[in-house]
Amino acid sequence: MRAVARLPPNRMAVSFYAVALLAATALGASISPSQVESSACGRVWVTVHSPTIRVTGASDLLDAIELNWDFNACSNVPTQIGLFDDRPLSWVSALAVYPVSSIEGHVVTNFSLGDVSLPAGWESGTGIRGPHCLWPWAGAGDSQILAHNCLKIQPTWMEDNAEKINRLRVGELAIPGTHNAGAWRFDTEISSVTRDSFVLCQDRSVWAQLVHGIRYFDFRIGYYDFYAKEEDRYWLNHNLIRVRPLVPLLREIRVFLDSTKEVVFLDAHHFPIGFYEQNGAPIRHVHEGLIRIVQNELGPHLALATQFSTGSGTRGPTVQSLVDADKRLLFSYVDNNIVLENSWLWPILPHLWANTNSPTELFAFLDRTIGTYPQPSARSPLYSAMAQTTPTVIDILFLRGSVRENADDVNRNVTARLTGKWRNQANIVSTDFFLGNDVIDVSIAISLERAGRL
Ligand SMILES: *[C@@H]1O[C@H](CO)[C@@H](O)[C@H](O)[C@H]1NC(C)=O
Ligand SMILES: *[C@@H]1O[C@H](CO)[C@@H](O)[C@H](O)[C@H]1NC(C)=O
Repeated sequence: MRAVARLPPNRMAVSFYAVALLAATALGASISPSQVESSACGRVWVTVHSPTIRVTGASDLLDAIELNWDFNACSNVPTQIGLFDDRPLSWVSALAVYPVSSIEGHVVTNFSLGDVSLPAGWESGTGIRGPHCLWPWAGAGDSQILAHNCLKIQPTWMEDNAEKINRLRVGELAIPGTHNAGAWRFDTEISSVTRDSFVLCQDRSVWAQLVHGIRYFDFRIGYYDFYAKEEDRYWLNHNLIRVRPLVPLLREIRVFLDSTKEVVFLDAHHFPIGFYEQNGAPIRHVHEGLIRIVQNELGPHLALATQFSTGSGTRGPTVQSLVDADKRLLFSYVDNNIVLENSWLWPILPHLWANTNSPTELFAFLDRTIGTYPQPSARSPLYSAMAQTTPTVIDILFLRGSVRENADDVNRNVTARLTGKWRNQANIVSTDFFLGNDVIDVSIAISLERAGRL
């Protein structure tokens, strides 16, 4: 709080969080003592290291905590950063302290996140509104701690910021998303594997993703007719591999929508198995069965395109109109033939997909394309930057890398890009192992910033 109050009023390059907080204060909202992020300049944030760290002579280090900083906006760069297990008040309570030797950077600590449950009552149902911290905190400064932040959940970020954000159209929001959202842990007759190299893209349940603040889900759905009951036949896949049944995930989304005022974007983006004939023709009853299941499970929350679409080349309905109508689920469908017959579905949501295993090519592609979207004739008001690399068949055959390592190679740069180059344009940014980046908090800040310009 002291840090915020000390901000020079006319300095341009102040932390955008500080700006948002100042704006909130100006509007009469008080900054509560539960304020989770603060800095005099620049930012610090906490992420989770996605790859396993092998330690000689000891057991593997999973989910190592990372401390990140960007002090570009600081005239005096802090000299050290520490990991804390509570709000950092003095260096004495730090679990570990590391020197800061660059203006921006990160350190991978030797501390594991461990088995954590979601705070403030969100583990198994709706909890207390607002951001809440998990145990790890970062603090940076010199003799004093000048910046702090925690690893957090943002279960109600849209409602928390409704006064501003609700004025935005859905295509104007910055929306944190997950690629292959359902591929987070095997739940089949033969496997309950939680870590693998090439299939699992996430490590948090769909419920936990929602509670953390993810609002866009990229689903890949497979159909297996050997199950007796229709609702058991639909699965979340990664390509040809079955990961988990679909219906329980839809129910997690249902519970979340029932008990919050958040808007969720669901994208049936790929049907790798069971939805098409050999000749490419859609198998009607399989598509219809899926659409019926979505209507059964999520029906009362569906924002129908027939009611809310604002036409080609526009940015779609405002968040306010969705909240007022209490229709807060936009379901987009990748097959335009099916959309033509079910005009309430939202049309194909374009994915900016680089289809490369090279981080350099990925960022070159996204830098080039983000600025050209949404296209003037776009039928969907939304589009998603797919900010992950794609392993080649050769990578997989030779077990070269893993989704976790690939995510680690790009996630920090994704945070930096969204903060910088993509800041004014990005809509949905979808990542793998989202705890390895800061896309949620940066998206919230950017959405607030965009609303502030209206
Ligand atoms: C973590 O522990 C290893 C082995 O004890 C040590 O070499 C390394 O410097 C430590 N890393 C950090 C960031 O503390
Ligand atoms: C990612 O960021 C790091 C640190 O700024 C930089 O050295 C690296 O070149 C970036 N990678 C890509 C692919 O842009």
